[in-house]
Amino acid sequence: MIARAQRLEKLPPYLFAEIATLKRKAIAEGRDLIDLGIGDPDQPTPNSIIDALKEAAQDPETHRYDETPAGWIPFLEAVATWAGRRFDVSIDPAKEAMLLIGSKEGLAHLAWAYIDPGDLALVPDPAYTVYRINTQMAGGDVYVMPLREQNGFLPDLTAIPSDVARKAKMLWLNYPNNPTGAVAPLSFYADAVAFARDYDLLLVNDAAYVECYYDPANRPPSVLQVPGSKDVAIELHSLSKMFNMTGWRLGFAIGNPDAIAALNKLKSNLDSKQFPAISMAGAHALLHGDNRPTLELYRRRRDILCDGLNALGWNVRKPDATFYVWARVPGGYTSIEFAKVLLERAGVLVIPGIGYGEHGEGYIRMSLTVLGDRNGERVAEAVARIRQYVPRD
Ligand SMILES: Cc1ncc(COP(=O)(O)O)c(C=O)c1O
Repeated sequence: MIARAQRLEKLPPYLFAEIATLKRKAIAEGRDLIDLGIGDPDQPTPNSIIDALKEAAQDPETHRYDETPAGWIPFLEAVATWAGRRFDVSIDPAKEAMLLIGSKEGLAHLAWAYIDPGDLALVPDPAYTVYRINTQMAGGDVYVMPLREQNGFLPDLTAIPSDVARKAKMLWLNYPNNPTGAVAPLSFYADAVAFARDYDLLLVNDAAYVECYYDPANRPPSVLQVPGSKDVAIELHSLSKMFNMTGWRLGFAIGNPDAIAALNKLKSNLDSKQFPAISMAGAHALLHGDNRPTLELYRRRRDILCDGLNALGWNVRKPDATFYVWARVPGGYTSIEFAKVLLERAGVLVIPGIGYGEHGEGYIRMSLTVLGDRNGERVAEAVARIRQYVPRD
């Protein structure tokens, strides 16, 4: 067999692949599993977006390569309009925005666009694994910024030694945060922008969950609301969680024009953008999409889950944004052991926190995207089973 590149052999197995194996096994055994595992919206994409796709797909113009410099122009114009309305941030669609085939690919490729062997990136922990793994695959090293509960799951930038910060090239952030559900206030973003400026870092904020919030009067901010942030920051967004469009593969990056150009240069040698009809439907979603019914459903599930578990003595914090509940495991268990207990005794699938890094140990992540749940009844069933089979002792 031909040897694979060493960078592949060094990789840990993809976290969700392991969970998927456990899940398949339980299903093969005929168990009624309540899946609070992977964070993939269970509700369908809103009809008006599907109609926009149908209409755009009738136009033969959309059947060809997207040969625009950075993504279908009406899509990028819609991105700029959306960013203006949502954050009061001005984006030049010609220089400060680009289309992504989902934000995961953009995040991964940003590491490849900036990291040379031996370069250093500041990476949060616990975190979505893409930042760390792509930094390492590109030959870079990672300096871990722990996200601790007592700091609201924000990294303590003042704790990063100045020689480390000077050596680093990238500062990765993700707010609203997967897996902790934390939201960064604008004051934190202001500190992060100042830090990135002081140490000449590219600040990358993964804002995939910015539209999954529970209080419309208190929506999560964007790092680009910090004056001057576009000098150092790029922010990645996703239509996946915003409009239940995970399978459509559509996202975008906005911010620092140099980072946009670098990512675009790399990607123009890797892919040929998205099916233009999907880009058109995405433009419609950004301008007219309405995810409020889905957010209401998540809120109902969040309240049933958190209130239910708290009644059992779990002491769970209700997230203000994202569809994740990040809960401490009881003493005496590792996160993997406790996830197995929940799976084997209660048929409830959760993700062990260690899968997000060493500082995720001691926690499990429960997702509110529960397939087959119409109005919170499956979540209530999960709580009932936990009460019955997994007493907190
Ligand atoms: C923190 C975070 N960022 C980015 C993504 C990727 O989303 P997509 O590639 O669908 O835009 C995910 C997906 O789960 C995520 O959790």
